[in-house]
Amino acid sequence: MRALRWHGKKDIRCDNHVPDPGIEDGRDAIIRVSSCAICGSDLHLYDGFMPGMMHGDILGHEFMGEVVEVGKDNRKLKVGDRVVVPFTIVCGECDQCRRGNYSVCERTNRNKEVADKVFGHSTAGLYGYTHLTGGYAGGQAEFVRVPYADVGPVVIPDGLTDEQVLFLGDILPTGWQAAAQCEIEPTDTVAVWGAGPVGQFAVRSAILMGAEQVICIDNVPERLSMARAGGAITINFDEESVVHRLHELTRGKGPEKCIDAVGLEAHAARSIDSMYDRAKQALMLETDRPHVLREMIYVCRPAGILSIPGVYGGLIDKIPFGAAMNKGLTFRMGQTHVNRWTDDLLNRIQEGQIDPSFVITHTVSLEEGPDMYKVFRDKHDGCVKVVLKP
Ligand SMILES: NC(=O)c1ccc[n+]([C@@H]2O[C@H](COP(=O)([O-])OP(=O)(O)OC[C@H]3O[C@@H](n4cnc5c(N)ncnc54)[C@H](O)[C@@H]3O)[C@@H](O)[C@H]2O)c1
Ligand SMILES: [Zn+2]
Ligand SMILES: [Zn+2]
Repeated sequence: MRALRWHGKKDIRCDNHVPDPGIEDGRDAIIRVSSCAICGSDLHLYDGFMPGMMHGDILGHEFMGEVVEVGKDNRKLKVGDRVVVPFTIVCGECDQCRRGNYSVCERTNRNKEVADKVFGHSTAGLYGYTHLTGGYAGGQAEFVRVPYADVGPVVIPDGLTDEQVLFLGDILPTGWQAAAQCEIEPTDTVAVWGAGPVGQFAVRSAILMGAEQVICIDNVPERLSMARAGGAITINFDEESVVHRLHELTRGKGPEKCIDAVGLEAHAARSIDSMYDRAKQALMLETDRPHVLREMIYVCRPAGILSIPGVYGGLIDKIPFGAAMNKGLTFRMGQTHVNRWTDDLLNRIQEGQIDPSFVITHTVSLEEGPDMYKVFRDKHDGCVKVVLKP
């Protein structure tokens, strides 16, 4: 089959003659991928910031398609079903899965010992996302093996297009969970850093959850106008001071709720702290660039909530923890517990309340995937979200 594989930093190729996956366990299924997407999290692999990738790993954790083979113990799926597959692999039976904490499933990470050492505990297995999370082959491919396929996959009813439901597997529930973690009240201002796909869904979720005002921060004009179309007030951090403007918009009090939809590759050309991060990162003295986290801690109203869907991989430096502690801030974060939200979100899509397809700016073949990683990373050509058709 053909698949997008990681061959090193900034070296992703569409390889032919990659061996087809097969059933390895009775609960497995094999999916023929009809649509898949490139996620902001994939950029951290492309740019070489996440440790644990190996030459030849198949990328991709946002995908859907048709079931073409089912293991003998799988009583949920049948050949021909159309499914969206959540990026977190879940067993459905461990303590954490039973509590709905799917992204920290205790069983699905095949490389548990490594994760235990690095993070203190293992987290769920993820598709196409480093050997720290199980080293599972991803879905930017013609076919993919889905382990524990009697738990995670969401069966899609007839009448919905791929574009309407594909993002149920990751970025839609991620934006939704980011807003849900804010426990939004009708008087709240919610500030969202990052107007990428995750930021876009966080903005629209916060509005659906009834926030008084939603503010979105980025420096990419077309992403900011997409956020405005969703109901946000926007701040371009190249043109004005984020802290100053947020105070202006909140009568000097600061937003009650702050969402980091940027993660470890934050940039902020003119700030001293981000120059410091770049220097330390280059010298391998720091793995991540937490400029947004610092800004959120500084500007968030005391007793507020910081919700962090943005991915961090390792160690961060110069975090004003004194400010966070004395202001009584609450931090909520994590990889998304996708299956916690999918039934509700699928309903909202069917009822026409949400149409996630608005973020798609590019639809291309798998062969064009490697080039599109670069276009998406550099935000060229108005690119917000890329869908690949294998
Ligand atoms: N928690 C999860 O389960 C989960 C799931 C999906 C994605 N993510 C993470 O969410 C983050 C966003 O993903 P995405 O797909 O939207 O990626 P993206 O790279 O398209 O979006 C990031 C946006 O942040 C902006 N940005 C950079 N520096 C900024 C700053 N200082 N202030 C404000 N904005 C800034 C960029 O211009 C860009 O538009 C990534 O870190 C990704 O790994 C997490
Ligand atoms: Zn993702
Ligand atoms: Zn589990």
